[in-house]
Amino acid sequence: MYRTHSCGELRASHINTEVTLAGWVQKSRDKGFMIWVDLRDRYGITQLIFDEERTAADLMEKAKGLGREFVIQVKGTVIERQSKNPNIPTGDVEVLVSELTVLNEAKLPPFTIEDETDGGEDLRMKYRYLDIRRNPVKESLLFRHKVGMEVRKYLSDEGFAEVETPYLIKSTPEGARDFVVPSRMNEGQFYALPQSPQTFKQLLMVGGMDKYFQIVKCFRDEDLRADRQPEFTQIDCEMTFVEQEDILNTFEGLTRHLLKEIKGVEVDKFPRMQYDDAMRLYGNDKPDIRFGMEFGELNEVAQHKDFKVFNSAELVVGIAVPGAASYTRKEIDKLIDWVKRPQVGALGMVYVKCNEDGSFKSSVDKFYDQEDLAKWAEVTGAKAGDLICVLSGPTDKTRAQMSALRMEMAERLGLRKPDEFAPLWVVDFPLLEWDEETERYHAMHHPFTSPKPEQISLLETEPGKVKANAYDLVLNGNEIGGGSIRIHDKQIQAMMFDYLGFTPEEAKAQFGFLMDAFEYGAPPHGGIAFGFDRLVAILGGQETIRDFIAFPKNNSGRDVMIDAPAPVDNEQLKELSIKLDITE
Ligand code: AMO
Repeated sequence: MYRTHSCGELRASHINTEVTLAGWVQKSRDKGFMIWVDLRDRYGITQLIFDEERTAADLMEKAKGLGREFVIQVKGTVIERQSKNPNIPTGDVEVLVSELTVLNEAKLPPFTIEDETDGGEDLRMKYRYLDIRRNPVKESLLFRHKVGMEVRKYLSDEGFAEVETPYLIKSTPEGARDFVVPSRMNEGQFYALPQSPQTFKQLLMVGGMDKYFQIVKCFRDEDLRADRQPEFTQIDCEMTFVEQEDILNTFEGLTRHLLKEIKGVEVDKFPRMQYDDAMRLYGNDKPDIRFGMEFGELNEVAQHKDFKVFNSAELVVGIAVPGAASYTRKEIDKLIDWVKRPQVGALGMVYVKCNEDGSFKSSVDKFYDQEDLAKWAEVTGAKAGDLICVLSGPTDKTRAQMSALRMEMAERLGLRKPDEFAPLWVVDFPLLEWDEETERYHAMHHPFTSPKPEQISLLETEPGKVKANAYDLVLNGNEIGGGSIRIHDKQIQAMMFDYLGFTPEEAKAQFGFLMDAFEYGAPPHGGIAFGFDRLVAILGGQETIRDFIAFPKNNSGRDVMIDAPAPVDNEQLKELSIKLDITE
């Protein structure tokens, strides 16, 4: 037997017990006559002690040879510690070692395996297995496991069945590029890895599965960010004979269960916000509602004077930043530089300081009097001591810029508290989205999303105005889930493909299987998918999903540990009938 106990298990009640432990050497302190070794495994750290008086000379010598990260097994007696360590659960005891076996030696690790490490991101990714030995990474993975278990438990109790769907499929259009896999047995043909199991889960509904879920890998070849990986995991769900309301209630239940079980947080009914309101009030379809700073549209109260910048703008919009009237000129200049950064892209920023005495001091005093500025304060909800920040320009762009500024100010003011949870449903998304590049409408969610039935006729005249039965679940300013009620009628689905620019032949070639299925009694159905990595990260109080993935890719989509992607040899290419010709 390698061990009788784990390294996190021994307490004062074990004193005088003979134990066998196995683990890694976290560190050792050699005082010559006495050696202490911290032995670590997944469960904790136990202090080992070797001392001249009680330990045989050859064992003392062996202990002196132990290096960091050596894998060892020890036998010994649990004794009371002289100086106790109240910071760790095993801190009352130590093990007086009588036998030591080195199971494996270790090279000096390239970074310290401590909670705070000296290793940079790249180095830690290259030696991820060492990084996983560190508490913060290990804890994140265990946390992910715990969330996954709670998800499975809850959904299973609600009657959902976990069904696996294939990874080698034909592409599903979810807006990103596909990763493709050549088929050796079908010359010149390719599978695609699923961007999501969307069409399969719909077919499971046609198959009568009624309530499906799957914790499933999805693959999207898109630009990466802190909250995006090329392969990520969804909690994918679908239900039959449901309306939007049923889905929102079911998955609000799941989210509430997770918040309670994992974080001990009880949340009331989740607020719901129309997409249009989210854009108008927060400039964003995933607003963080843990704090205010809602947008105030100032066109009416700012476009009556000679200030050309505002007069010519489609939108003039402001937010009241709490307590920021005390900003110095220099600090405000810095903020203006911040909004002018290319990542934000504003041309400038007008500001109004709301003084404690009720007066206003603005950067546009030349154009606006105190009465005007009082109206701005009213519209933005500014109080004495606040700083009103105003941006103007084309509506969509200006909203996006103001949204970035709002989040930045919230960050600076410490309003984005990781232990506070503010879930929100954003509903009534537009069905279609205009794409400037291709000059065409695209499905905002995906082509299987049902338009609001009463708005179908608008598709002919004002397609951009048609709303969908589509919803997103937002948590603390992050989109953690999205879904819709699906089209289950063949004619409407065909019409949608037509609006999205597919010829009937293209639609048949890509989605014939789904259209065929719709001829055999497709029930009304709908669903949602949660971004599992995102959900876990946010519950864990962070926004970078990489930390919650055992072996993540870096920002260029590379796994630097296994060095992938990588070329394959010519033999393999030949077998796959692939000729690499990148000259064209
Ligand atoms: P959607 O494309 O909105 O919907 O994806 C659902 C959720 O998955 C997460 N997500 C990601 N997480 C990490 N890295 C990525 N690259 C990434 N892309 C998406 C987000 C998102 O909310 N089939 C539909 C769902 C449905 O209609 O039921 C779908 O995939 O948190």
